[in-house]
Amino acid sequence: MRIFITRPIPESGIKLLRDKGYEVLVNEAAKDRAADKQEILAGVKDAGALLSVLTEKIDAEIMDAGSPSLKVIANLAVGFDNIDLEAAKQRNLMVTNTPGVLTNTVAEHTFALMLAISHRIAEADKFTRAGMFNAWGPMLLLGSDLAGKTLGVVGLGRIGSRVAYHAAKGFGMKVLYTDVRKDENFEREFNAQFFENIDDLLPRCDYVSLHVPLLESTRHLMDERRLKLMKTSAYLINTSRGPVIDEKALALSLSKGWIRGAGIDVFENEPKVEPELLKLNNIILTPHIASATEETRSKMAELAAKNIIEALEGRVPPNLVK
Ligand code: GLV
Repeated sequence: MRIFITRPIPESGIKLLRDKGYEVLVNEAAKDRAADKQEILAGVKDAGALLSVLTEKIDAEIMDAGSPSLKVIANLAVGFDNIDLEAAKQRNLMVTNTPGVLTNTVAEHTFALMLAISHRIAEADKFTRAGMFNAWGPMLLLGSDLAGKTLGVVGLGRIGSRVAYHAAKGFGMKVLYTDVRKDENFEREFNAQFFENIDDLLPRCDYVSLHVPLLESTRHLMDERRLKLMKTSAYLINTSRGPVIDEKALALSLSKGWIRGAGIDVFENEPKVEPELLKLNNIILTPHIASATEETRSKMAELAAKNIIEALEGRVPPNLVK
Protein backbone atom coordinates (compact mmCIF):
# COMPACT_ATOMS: atom_id res chain seq x y z
CA MET A 1 0.00 0.00 0.00
CA ARG A 2 1.36 3.40 -0.98
CA ILE A 3 1.05 6.66 0.92
CA PHE A 4 1.53 9.98 -0.84
CA ILE A 5 2.81 12.98 1.14
CA THR A 6 2.37 16.25 -0.73
CA ARG A 7 5.27 18.16 0.94
CA PRO A 8 8.37 17.09 2.89
CA ILE A 9 7.45 16.71 6.60
CA PRO A 10 9.46 15.74 9.73
CA GLU A 11 11.08 12.32 9.40
CA SER A 12 9.52 10.85 12.54
CA GLY A 13 6.08 10.71 10.87
CA ILE A 14 7.47 9.13 7.71
CA LYS A 15 9.35 6.57 9.81
CA LEU A 16 6.17 5.43 11.58
CA LEU A 17 4.62 4.71 8.18
CA ARG A 18 7.68 2.98 6.73
CA ASP A 19 8.08 0.85 9.88
CA LYS A 20 4.55 -0.44 9.22
CA GLY A 21 5.71 -1.60 5.80
CA TYR A 22 3.98 1.07 3.74
CA GLU A 23 5.62 2.50 0.65
CA VAL A 24 5.90 6.25 1.29
CA LEU A 25 6.20 8.68 -1.60
CA VAL A 26 7.16 12.21 -0.57
CA ASN A 27 6.76 15.02 -3.08
CA GLU A 28 10.30 16.33 -2.47
CA ALA A 29 9.93 18.95 -5.23
CA ALA A 30 7.58 20.95 -3.02
CA LYS A 31 10.09 21.66 -0.25
CA ASP A 32 9.85 25.45 -0.24
CA ARG A 33 6.67 25.94 -2.21
CA ALA A 34 3.11 24.65 -2.34
CA ALA A 35 2.56 21.38 -4.19
CA ASP A 36 1.19 21.68 -7.74
CA LYS A 37 -2.21 20.24 -8.39
CA GLN A 38 -0.63 18.06 -11.12
CA GLU A 39 1.88 16.65 -8.63
CA ILE A 40 -0.93 15.74 -6.25
CA LEU A 41 -3.08 14.22 -9.00
CA ALA A 42 -0.18 12.02 -10.12
CA GLY A 43 0.96 11.15 -6.57
CA VAL A 44 -2.46 10.16 -5.22
CA LYS A 45 -3.08 7.64 -7.99
CA ASP A 46 -3.14 4.11 -6.50
CA ALA A 47 -2.38 5.51 -3.02
CA GLY A 48 -4.26 4.26 0.05
CA ALA A 49 -3.66 7.50 1.94
CA LEU A 50 -2.96 11.12 1.13
CA LEU A 51 -1.09 13.17 3.72
CA SER A 52 -1.86 16.78 2.86
CA VAL A 53 -0.98 20.21 4.21
CA LEU A 54 -2.94 23.44 4.29
CA THR A 55 -1.37 25.01 1.21
CA GLU A 56 -3.36 22.57 -0.92
CA LYS A 57 -7.02 22.56 -1.83
CA ILE A 58 -8.03 18.91 -1.66
CA ASP A 59 -11.05 18.77 -3.94
CA ALA A 60 -13.24 16.17 -5.64
CA GLU A 61 -10.89 15.91 -8.63
CA ILE A 62 -7.99 14.87 -6.38
CA MET A 63 -10.24 12.44 -4.48
CA ASP A 64 -11.34 10.85 -7.76
CA ALA A 65 -7.73 10.58 -8.95
CA GLY A 66 -7.10 8.42 -5.86
CA SER A 67 -10.13 6.22 -6.42
CA PRO A 68 -10.66 3.34 -5.71
CA SER A 69 -7.54 2.80 -3.56
CA LEU A 70 -7.76 6.03 -1.52
CA LYS A 71 -9.25 5.54 1.96
CA VAL A 72 -8.06 8.47 4.05
CA ILE A 73 -6.90 12.07 3.75
CA ALA A 74 -4.75 13.05 6.75
CA ASN A 75 -4.24 16.79 7.01
CA LEU A 76 -1.11 17.99 8.80
CA ALA A 77 -2.94 20.80 10.62
CA VAL A 78 -5.69 21.30 13.13
CA GLY A 79 -7.63 23.37 10.57
CA PHE A 80 -9.16 21.55 7.61
CA ASP A 81 -10.81 24.30 5.61
CA ASN A 82 -8.55 23.32 2.67
CA ILE A 83 -10.42 20.02 2.28
CA ASP A 84 -13.80 19.64 0.58
CA LEU A 85 -15.49 17.66 3.36
CA GLU A 86 -18.75 17.24 1.47
CA ALA A 87 -16.93 15.65 -1.48
CA ALA A 88 -15.03 13.36 0.92
CA LYS A 89 -18.29 12.30 2.59
CA GLN A 90 -19.92 11.52 -0.74
CA ARG A 91 -16.94 9.29 -1.58
CA ASN A 92 -16.78 7.63 1.84
CA LEU A 93 -13.29 8.97 2.45
CA MET A 94 -12.07 9.54 5.96
CA VAL A 95 -10.56 12.95 6.75
CA THR A 96 -8.35 13.52 9.80
CA ASN A 97 -6.54 16.47 11.39
CA THR A 98 -3.88 16.97 14.11
CA PRO A 99 -5.50 18.68 17.11
CA GLY A 100 -4.02 18.85 20.59
CA VAL A 101 -0.32 18.48 19.83
CA LEU A 102 0.00 22.06 18.61
CA THR A 103 -2.20 23.79 21.19
CA ASN A 104 0.56 25.06 23.43
CA THR A 105 2.87 26.10 20.59
CA VAL A 106 0.17 28.18 18.91
CA ALA A 107 -0.72 29.75 22.26
CA GLU A 108 2.96 30.59 22.76
CA HIS A 109 3.12 32.17 19.31
CA THR A 110 0.02 34.19 20.12
CA PHE A 111 1.90 35.61 23.10
CA ALA A 112 5.04 36.07 21.02
CA LEU A 113 2.95 38.35 18.76
CA MET A 114 1.24 40.11 21.67
CA LEU A 115 4.52 40.76 23.44
CA ALA A 116 6.37 41.71 20.26
CA ILE A 117 3.81 44.29 19.19
CA SER A 118 3.24 45.66 22.72
CA HIS A 119 6.95 45.94 23.52
CA ARG A 120 7.76 47.11 19.98
CA ILE A 121 10.35 44.38 19.50
CA ALA A 122 10.59 44.51 15.70
CA GLU A 123 10.89 48.31 15.67
CA ALA A 124 13.48 48.18 18.48
CA ASP A 125 15.51 45.53 16.66
CA LYS A 126 15.59 47.65 13.48
CA PHE A 127 16.49 50.71 15.52
CA THR A 128 19.39 48.96 17.27
CA ARG A 129 20.80 47.40 14.08
CA ALA A 130 20.62 50.79 12.37
CA GLY A 131 23.08 52.13 14.98
CA MET A 132 20.48 54.54 16.40
CA PHE A 133 20.96 53.51 20.06
CA ASN A 134 22.80 56.61 21.25
CA ALA A 135 21.69 56.65 24.86
CA TRP A 136 19.14 55.03 27.18
CA GLY A 137 16.07 57.20 26.90
CA PRO A 138 13.22 57.80 29.35
CA MET A 139 10.90 58.24 26.38
CA LEU A 140 12.55 55.80 23.97
CA LEU A 141 10.24 53.31 22.20
CA LEU A 142 7.54 53.25 24.85
CA GLY A 143 5.20 50.30 24.53
CA SER A 144 2.36 48.88 26.50
CA ASP A 145 2.06 46.30 29.35
CA LEU A 146 0.01 43.12 29.19
CA ALA A 147 -0.38 42.97 32.99
CA GLY A 148 -3.63 44.44 34.22
CA LYS A 149 -5.10 44.61 30.73
CA THR A 150 -8.20 42.92 29.35
CA LEU A 151 -7.90 40.18 26.75
CA GLY A 152 -10.87 39.16 24.61
CA VAL A 153 -10.62 35.57 23.40
CA VAL A 154 -12.74 34.99 20.32
CA GLY A 155 -13.36 31.23 20.09
CA LEU A 156 -12.82 29.17 23.24
CA GLY A 157 -11.53 25.92 21.72
CA ARG A 158 -8.31 24.23 22.76
CA ILE A 159 -6.05 27.07 21.61
CA GLY A 160 -8.28 29.90 22.82
CA SER A 161 -8.51 28.23 26.24
CA ARG A 162 -4.72 27.85 26.46
CA VAL A 163 -4.25 31.49 25.53
CA ALA A 164 -6.73 32.42 28.27
CA TYR A 165 -4.79 30.24 30.73
CA HIS A 166 -1.49 32.01 30.02
CA ALA A 167 -3.19 35.40 30.09
CA ALA A 168 -4.98 34.90 33.42
CA LYS A 169 -2.46 32.76 35.30
CA GLY A 170 0.80 34.05 33.82
CA PHE A 171 0.37 37.63 32.70
CA GLY A 172 -2.20 38.92 35.17
CA MET A 173 -4.74 39.79 32.49
CA LYS A 174 -8.51 39.88 32.80
CA VAL A 175 -10.16 37.46 30.37
CA LEU A 176 -13.38 38.01 28.44
CA TYR A 177 -14.52 35.53 25.81
CA THR A 178 -17.09 34.84 23.17
CA ASP A 179 -17.97 31.47 21.71
CA VAL A 180 -21.00 29.60 20.43
CA ARG A 181 -21.05 27.89 23.83
CA LYS A 182 -20.84 29.33 27.33
CA ASP A 183 -18.49 27.45 29.68
CA GLU A 184 -19.19 28.05 33.35
CA ASN A 185 -16.31 25.89 34.62
CA PHE A 186 -13.91 27.96 32.54
CA GLU A 187 -15.46 31.18 33.85
CA ARG A 188 -15.01 30.04 37.46
CA GLU A 189 -11.44 28.86 36.95
CA PHE A 190 -10.23 31.95 35.13
CA ASN A 191 -12.59 34.53 36.56
CA ALA A 192 -13.61 35.07 32.93
CA GLN A 193 -16.68 36.78 31.54
CA PHE A 194 -18.78 35.49 28.66
CA PHE A 195 -20.23 37.64 25.86
CA GLU A 196 -22.73 36.05 23.55
CA ASN A 197 -22.24 38.77 20.98
CA ILE A 198 -18.74 39.71 19.83
CA ASP A 199 -19.97 43.28 19.30
CA ASP A 200 -20.39 43.63 23.07
CA LEU A 201 -16.96 42.15 23.81
CA LEU A 202 -14.84 44.22 21.40
CA PRO A 203 -15.24 47.68 23.01
CA ARG A 204 -14.15 46.27 26.40
CA CYS A 205 -10.81 44.74 25.34
CA ASP A 206 -7.22 45.98 25.26
CA TYR A 207 -6.24 42.87 23.26
CA VAL A 208 -8.44 40.75 21.02
CA SER A 209 -7.14 37.33 19.98
CA LEU A 210 -8.88 35.27 17.29
CA HIS A 211 -9.16 31.47 17.68
CA VAL A 212 -12.12 30.47 15.52
CA PRO A 213 -12.10 28.01 12.60
CA LEU A 214 -12.71 29.45 9.13
CA LEU A 215 -16.41 28.92 8.37
CA GLU A 216 -18.89 30.93 6.31
CA SER A 217 -20.02 32.46 9.62
CA THR A 218 -16.47 33.55 10.59
CA ARG A 219 -15.28 34.88 7.21
CA HIS A 220 -14.60 38.61 7.68
CA LEU A 221 -15.79 38.35 11.27
CA MET A 222 -13.46 41.31 11.86
CA ASP A 223 -14.71 43.71 9.20
CA GLU A 224 -14.50 47.49 9.16
CA ARG A 225 -17.53 47.90 11.42
CA ARG A 226 -16.16 45.57 14.10
CA LEU A 227 -12.62 46.99 13.89
CA LYS A 228 -14.21 50.34 14.67
CA LEU A 229 -15.86 48.84 17.77
CA MET A 230 -12.40 48.14 19.26
CA LYS A 231 -10.70 50.71 21.50
CA THR A 232 -8.24 52.98 19.70
CA SER A 233 -5.63 51.76 22.20
CA ALA A 234 -6.31 48.05 21.49
CA TYR A 235 -4.33 45.37 19.65
CA LEU A 236 -5.70 42.63 17.40
CA ILE A 237 -3.92 39.26 17.23
CA ASN A 238 -4.69 36.55 14.67
CA THR A 239 -3.25 33.03 14.70
CA SER A 240 -6.41 31.35 13.33
CA ARG A 241 -7.15 31.81 9.62
CA GLY A 242 -6.49 34.89 7.50
CA PRO A 243 -9.96 35.38 6.00
CA VAL A 244 -11.41 35.84 9.50
CA ILE A 245 -10.15 39.44 9.12
CA ASP A 246 -10.94 41.75 6.22
CA GLU A 247 -7.28 42.57 5.52
CA LYS A 248 -7.96 45.80 3.63
CA ALA A 249 -10.10 47.04 6.52
CA LEU A 250 -7.32 46.08 8.94
CA ALA A 251 -4.77 48.12 6.96
CA LEU A 252 -7.15 51.07 7.03
CA SER A 253 -7.81 50.74 10.74
CA LEU A 254 -4.07 50.58 11.57
CA SER A 255 -3.19 53.54 9.37
CA LYS A 256 -6.12 55.66 10.60
CA GLY A 257 -5.46 54.77 14.26
CA TRP A 258 -8.83 53.08 14.87
CA ILE A 259 -6.74 50.46 16.70
CA ARG A 260 -3.21 50.75 18.04
CA GLY A 261 -1.57 47.67 16.57
CA ALA A 262 -1.83 44.10 15.34
CA GLY A 263 0.06 40.82 15.41
CA ILE A 264 -0.79 38.68 12.42
CA ASP A 265 0.36 35.15 11.50
CA VAL A 266 -2.28 34.28 8.88
CA PHE A 267 -3.41 36.13 5.78
CA GLU A 268 -6.47 36.41 3.64
CA ASN A 269 -4.80 35.31 0.40
CA GLU A 270 -1.73 33.40 1.54
CA PRO A 271 1.07 33.60 0.63
CA LYS A 272 0.14 37.12 -0.55
CA VAL A 273 0.01 39.85 2.06
CA GLU A 274 -2.04 42.99 1.58
CA PRO A 275 0.65 45.50 0.41
CA GLU A 276 -0.73 48.30 2.62
CA LEU A 277 0.04 46.19 5.72
CA LEU A 278 3.71 45.92 4.73
CA LYS A 279 4.08 49.70 4.89
CA LEU A 280 2.96 49.96 8.53
CA ASN A 281 5.08 49.97 11.70
CA ASN A 282 2.23 49.16 14.08
CA ILE A 283 1.84 45.57 12.91
CA ILE A 284 4.04 42.54 13.37
CA LEU A 285 3.79 39.88 10.67
CA THR A 286 4.84 36.21 10.67
CA PRO A 287 4.37 33.78 7.75
CA HIS A 288 1.82 31.29 9.18
CA ILE A 289 4.33 29.71 11.59
CA ALA A 290 2.34 29.59 14.84
CA SER A 291 2.78 25.82 15.15
CA ALA A 292 6.28 25.80 13.67
CA THR A 293 8.56 24.44 16.37
CA GLU A 294 10.69 21.36 15.79
CA GLU A 295 8.93 19.49 18.59
CA THR A 296 5.41 20.31 17.51
CA ARG A 297 5.86 19.74 13.79
CA SER A 298 7.32 16.29 14.58
CA LYS A 299 4.33 15.51 16.80
CA MET A 300 1.96 16.69 14.04
CA ALA A 301 3.71 14.43 11.51
CA GLU A 302 3.51 11.47 13.91
CA LEU A 303 -0.18 12.12 14.63
CA ALA A 304 -1.01 12.35 10.92
CA ALA A 305 0.86 9.05 10.42
CA LYS A 306 -1.06 7.40 13.30
CA ASN A 307 -4.34 8.56 11.80
CA ILE A 308 -3.34 6.95 8.50
CA ILE A 309 -2.25 3.69 10.12
CA GLU A 310 -5.48 3.37 12.10
CA ALA A 311 -7.59 4.11 9.03
CA LEU A 312 -5.71 1.67 6.78
CA GLU A 313 -5.83 -1.05 9.42
CA GLY A 314 -9.61 -0.75 9.51
CA ARG A 315 -10.01 1.12 12.80
CA VAL A 316 -11.49 4.54 13.44
CA PRO A 317 -8.58 7.04 13.38
CA PRO A 318 -8.23 9.10 16.59
CA ASN A 319 -8.76 12.44 14.87
CA LEU A 320 -11.53 11.75 12.42
CA VAL A 321 -13.11 15.02 11.29
CA LYS A 322 -16.88 14.75 11.48
C1 GLV B 1 -2.29 25.58 11.10
O1 GLV B 1 -2.66 26.62 10.71
C2 GLV B 1 -3.15 24.52 11.53
O2 GLV B 1 -4.37 24.58 11.29
O3 GLV B 1 -2.65 23.56 12.14
